[in-house]
Amino acid sequence: MSQNNIAIIYGSDTGATENVAKSLHVKIGEDKVDLLEVNSISPDDFRKYKTILIGVPTWYIGELQSDWDYFFPEFKKIDFTGIKTTYFGLGDQLGYPDSFVDGIGILAEVVLKNGGKVFGSWSTDGYDFDESLGVNPDGDFYGLVIDDDNQHEMTDERVDKWLSQIKSDLI
Ligand SMILES: Cc1cc2nc3c(=O)[nH]c(=O)nc-3n(C[C@H](O)[C@H](O)[C@H](O)COP(=O)(O)O)c2cc1C
Repeated sequence: MSQNNIAIIYGSDTGATENVAKSLHVKIGEDKVDLLEVNSISPDDFRKYKTILIGVPTWYIGELQSDWDYFFPEFKKIDFTGIKTTYFGLGDQLGYPDSFVDGIGILAEVVLKNGGKVFGSWSTDGYDFDESLGVNPDGDFYGLVIDDDNQHEMTDERVDKWLSQIKSDLI
């Protein structure tokens, strides 16, 4: 079924992550990347791709969005050897400063443990929060971080800047 080596796989409760996923799909090129919602795929689908952009908002104080949460036991069994991943995480830094975008870190750590790679880290400059599992050991976010609740006006610019940073990983 899939014809591309690259996929965007996302989950979204209220549509913010879905909007970013669709925007990435259009900006990267709909003919170059497959767009999949995590609630409609199986673990085997991950193994069909070499590069995966994972979209996950954080919910309920440091939890994965509901579809990712449901999928998580299967996710932990996937062998990510040979697969490189990056993340776009949605969150609310003012409302949840102690669990800001935890979801991207929760998923990235499983991928690393299961043999996969993570690329596309993103500076924490311009965000104000106290704690986040979404920050990697180098002090950067594991991937793009979008706060549509408080910084909606920056979303498009952040997407464009991140895409230009990861361009060479998307061929
Ligand atoms: C009840 C509730 C709990 C939330 N918990 C967190 C959280 O712990 N960390 C965070 O960064 N954002 C949290 N958020 C904010 C959402 O991640 C944010 O609104 C996001 O844009 C929703 O994405 P979606 O529309 O794709 O589901 C929470 C929002 C709600 C309503």
